[in-house]
Amino acid sequence: MQNEFAEKTILVTGGAGFVGSNLVRYLLGLEAGSIHVVDNLLSSERDNIPADPRVRFTQGSIASDRILAELDDDYDYIFHLSTYHGNQSSIHNPLADHENNLLTTLKLLERIKDFKRLKKLVYSGAGCAVAEKTYDDAQATPEDAPISVNFDSPYSISKIVGEFYLVYYHNHHGVPAVRARFQNVYGPGEILGAGEWRGTPATVWRNVTPTFIYKALKGQSLPLEGEGLTSRDFVFVEDIVRGLLACAEKGAPGDVYNLASGVETTIRQLADTINELTGNSAPLLFLPRRDWDHSGRRFGSTEKSKRELGFTAQVGLRQGLERTVDWTRQNLDLIERCIQKHADRMTPL
Ligand SMILES: NC(=O)c1ccc[n+]([C@@H]2O[C@H](COP(=O)([O-])OP(=O)(O)OC[C@H]3O[C@@H](n4cnc5c(N)ncnc54)[C@H](O)[C@@H]3O)[C@@H](O)[C@H]2O)c1
Repeated sequence: MQNEFAEKTILVTGGAGFVGSNLVRYLLGLEAGSIHVVDNLLSSERDNIPADPRVRFTQGSIASDRILAELDDDYDYIFHLSTYHGNQSSIHNPLADHENNLLTTLKLLERIKDFKRLKKLVYSGAGCAVAEKTYDDAQATPEDAPISVNFDSPYSISKIVGEFYLVYYHNHHGVPAVRARFQNVYGPGEILGAGEWRGTPATVWRNVTPTFIYKALKGQSLPLEGEGLTSRDFVFVEDIVRGLLACAEKGAPGDVYNLASGVETTIRQLADTINELTGNSAPLLFLPRRDWDHSGRRFGSTEKSKRELGFTAQVGLRQGLERTVDWTRQNLDLIERCIQKHADRMTPL
């Protein structure tokens, strides 16, 4: 059956990354005509990019003048997913964050602002940049939640200022830009230690879900900061990919949509489920709360994306975790090779 992305020409910035590589694979399955991946491999591995004659890979920054000059006006869709991963790396090196998380967005928009063929540019925004910072009962964060000027990290600042630029370029230049605000994505393809050392152990322990799964499979204690009472909205990567495509197909230019499950899960619940699924009996390790992190409890509202895009997350947490545990087991060699790259710079947790 013909679909919107069949035969289309698509640019994916950050296409070697966790979400990007899942998107590229999905688009290939939809018979995309050609996919151009631009990625400097700062937080990803070359092997993530599918070997397929329809995929062209340019290694380098999407803020590079040379690479930007080589982009022709022949893309139907652009998915702008590149980022300086993640909060802690950005705290360690705000200038690197600015270069790879914000300048990238501005320079890409400046380059493509007069492109005629482009149907949609979809940007990966971050729910953490708008969520209320609370440890009380969380309310679902809607798309039009007020935005504070009080951010926990340069990463969050770059993500939200990126949104400001998208709206500006839509309003002033007619760029058909849609913002997709992700909650916490997890799933196959997120490789601990992928890419280059970015100054802190968060280079390896990128996110809570892959970290917990790896440690649980190794029979190690799962570290819980602040008793694991903080909560997040965990969305399976395949759902995020479907949400990105829904934004590309149905999103209104200039507008913003949450890609969320709408389910609040505490980190303690996540740890217990992962320990159960992996049969890990090591006791939980309770640690003090991270001093930079005030984000507390949060989850995203799903109403608008359901109403306007017809998007709902389909993979429940338990099922998604089972699939991620399987993938991690199957890719343990690759993951350990990537962790090992940084071994001489890591201090034990
Ligand atoms: N994973 C999540 O939970 C989550 C949550 C909210 C938002 N997001 C957003 O989703 C997008 C994808 O995140 P991810 O989890 O796949 O992270 P990731 O680190 O796996 O992917 C980001 C990719 O961008 C690349 N990159 C970095 N600087 C670049 C540059 N200057 N030019 C080109 N490529 C560059 C990295 O090498 C990497 O491949 C990001 O924009 C991120 O901010 C992710």
